[in-house]
Amino acid sequence: MSVQIEAQHLNKHFGSLAALQDLNLSISAGEIYGLVGPDGAGKTTALRLLCGALRPDAHHRGNTPLCRVAGMDVFHQTEQARARLGYLPQRFSLYEDLTVMENLRFFAEVRGLTSREWQPRCLEILDFVGLAPYTERLAGHLSGGMKQKLGLAAALVHQPQVLLLDEPTTGVDPVTRQDFWQLIIRLAGSGNEQPVTVLVSTPYMDEAARCNRVGFLRQGKLLVEGTPAELRALISQRILELRGPSLMALRQAARQAPGVADAMLFGDRIHLRLTADADEGYLDSLRHHLEQAGSEVTSLRPVAPQLEDVFMALVEEKR
Ligand SMILES: Nc1ncnc2c1ncn2[C@@H]1O[C@H](COP(=O)(O)OP(=O)(O)OP(=O)(O)O)[C@@H](O)[C@H]1O
Ligand SMILES: [Mg+2]
Repeated sequence: MSVQIEAQHLNKHFGSLAALQDLNLSISAGEIYGLVGPDGAGKTTALRLLCGALRPDAHHRGNTPLCRVAGMDVFHQTEQARARLGYLPQRFSLYEDLTVMENLRFFAEVRGLTSREWQPRCLEILDFVGLAPYTERLAGHLSGGMKQKLGLAAALVHQPQVLLLDEPTTGVDPVTRQDFWQLIIRLAGSGNEQPVTVLVSTPYMDEAARCNRVGFLRQGKLLVEGTPAELRALISQRILELRGPSLMALRQAARQAPGVADAMLFGDRIHLRLTADADEGYLDSLRHHLEQAGSEVTSLRPVAPQLEDVFMALVEEKR
């Protein structure tokens, strides 16, 4: 599989603030890579560097930054790289007083599509994103989810090989989020003649779980990356499910127990995150500790971690 997105030693300071620190990425054709991180982690900064909208720090500790997208050097062949990539910014702006079709025509013309090319391409792409029935609707009258779909259509209008999506579904209703992900999966699908490589930033862990690989970004640093299964395996022995009649008291006691990093309520049970892998002996001693503290335990067992658990564990470890 050819590498479609490659970044080495990307650093970006804003004044004294290190927004991105030594980012290295290698993403293959047809992969869906999720960049996950909290507010201010550096996701937008990373995507803006990758599409050439922002320049990285020239040197960092003697390393020269490199960024190649679809085989083009983003910093030195910026136009060629841009011709091959589609970018949906976090704050995508439409012309609210133009129709859906007029907006898309505008983006097509900016991308250099000729008068013969733009119309069939726009109809095709509007059909793909499910906006074909709304071509004449003013963009200002679209729902939030429809606007994001039009943004995706605009990013795809010139048939890019690489797609950079910055929180495309934030604030979008759950049904439209599903639709949106179906589109992403279809674009990257292996059945395609030319599968699109997708880098998508998201604050949603359920979306991260749908990616082929995920990178966790925090305070400008990529903490870890891997497939969702690899990431879950990092802490597979460290999440316990705890049940009992008095959840509040049980949680309180669990928080005081040795080896427990955190105790969170999950509906009618508690999820404990441990500082180290649990073995049988630990489970027995924890149960004993909780009972000594006066809490009745009806069940205590290891459960499969969620990506959210992994992220929380990493964040705590790096503190
Ligand atoms: N143009 C800028 N000038 C100064 N600081 C900036 C600029 N752009 C971003 N920053 C800062 O860099 C850090 C990373 O910002 P960035 O927008 O990349 O984060 P993010 O992960 O996209 O966050 P969010 O989830 O809120 O979109 C933040 O502390 C932000 O305030
Ligand atoms: Mg952002």
